[in-house]
Amino acid sequence: MSDFAAEFAAVGAWIDRYLSNARDYPVLSKVSPGEVASRLPSSAPEQPEPFESLMADFQSVILPGITHWNSPRFFAFFATSAAPIGVSAEALAAALDVKAMLWRTSPAATELEEVVMRWLARLIGLPDAFTGIIYDTASIGGFTALAAARESLELDIRERGMSARDLPQLRVYVTDETHSHIEKACIALGIGRANVVRVETDGELRMRPDDLAERLDADIAAGMRPMAIVATVGTTSTTSCDPVEAIASIARERNVWLHVDAAYAGAAAIMPEFRSILAGAEHADSIVVNPHKWLFVPMDCSALYVRDPDMLRRAFSIVPEYVLQHRDASSGTNFMEYGLQLGRRFRALKLWFVLRYYGAEGLREHLRRHIVLAQEFAGWVEAEADWEIMAPHPFSVVCFRYAPPGVDEDAVEAVNTMILDRVNATGQIFLSHTKVRGRYALRLAIGNVATTRDDVALAWSLLRGQTLEL
Ligand SMILES: Cc1ncc(COP(=O)(O)O)c(C=O)c1O
Repeated sequence: MSDFAAEFAAVGAWIDRYLSNARDYPVLSKVSPGEVASRLPSSAPEQPEPFESLMADFQSVILPGITHWNSPRFFAFFATSAAPIGVSAEALAAALDVKAMLWRTSPAATELEEVVMRWLARLIGLPDAFTGIIYDTASIGGFTALAAARESLELDIRERGMSARDLPQLRVYVTDETHSHIEKACIALGIGRANVVRVETDGELRMRPDDLAERLDADIAAGMRPMAIVATVGTTSTTSCDPVEAIASIARERNVWLHVDAAYAGAAAIMPEFRSILAGAEHADSIVVNPHKWLFVPMDCSALYVRDPDMLRRAFSIVPEYVLQHRDASSGTNFMEYGLQLGRRFRALKLWFVLRYYGAEGLREHLRRHIVLAQEFAGWVEAEADWEIMAPHPFSVVCFRYAPPGVDEDAVEAVNTMILDRVNATGQIFLSHTKVRGRYALRLAIGNVATTRDDVALAWSLLRGQTLEL
């Protein structure tokens, strides 16, 4: 056996033990700022070090500073899962060390990406008219889509830029619930935060199509140029879903680019009973779904679907001399022309492995189980007089809080902040919070393949336990 084989076997055994015993680790790391760095040497070693020392330090120095995102008791933000089969695929991709930039620099990486993107599109009910490309994150996918939206305006911004020119004021339409990467993209693309228009939401935190139409028409009448509308299916805070169908028809009537951010909840559309959440998305120009959120693919893997991939190429394609000959040597797709990156990781492999290992039915079973657990948790909250649900919870995320009658908003916020700090300090679970229309809410997100009813029940008992001590 080579040294590598023995070392890799040791790593495999370690990962296996870790994943089997993930509940034994404090979910939220307890180290103080600077503690990990203080235990590391200030410069790299001159001499080679043995594998055993690396593993020993990994366990004694690094692990205490890890927040265990892959723990079944991680309920914060969006709970995710790196399925073991996805971890294996990552190891294989690392071994191949492919840069999937040109078809020729690894035909299988490019063609597998095209095939699994089609598989995923069909699973979530998107028509074949869409082309899928994998990016690292929804943020980069969203930025890329908005760059294409800007290019589609034919203002020659690619060549001439935006400064010292007579250009219309470009506008992007979101809501208060839209993820912040859209605003960042608008900063980076020269749109400016002042031109990010916040459309009103209804009682369930969904974009109001009537308000969208009014704002678009007022802006157009004032000589401004709507560049894009962003509809979200599964908002970050409460998982509310904007009415994509109605928004799509408003976008089409005014010829405005529609980007659908379904980073988290898009995965739910693999279940026929949830297919309707993407109704209307077939009319969008771009759609993002993150397999690294709720499809058990290890970070990072985000799928961007676009109706017109040539718009991405128009926005981004620059082919430097050193790749020209290889680019021209085949008619295959060259993904480097569809975004900022040149070298691209072979992310399709892990998605392919996960989709095949679980099968669509296996994935649906996990998602349905998560939703049932979240609904059961919400039922426990509702059954208690002093606790309240803060928003509709159609998927696997519940926003709720402790709110005894007669306690004012500031005191409710203070007490829930304390509850959150205390439950997280136990190390047994990790939850996060949000604000729902300005009101503080705790947030329980379920998304790990290994999460059980006992894990969720533990979370509820720890939360309730804090209030008994008040
Ligand atoms: C709705 C939504 N869009 C985009 C993102 C950003 O995702 P990423 O981390 O892949 O950039 C998130 C993150 O939680 C999200 O909830």
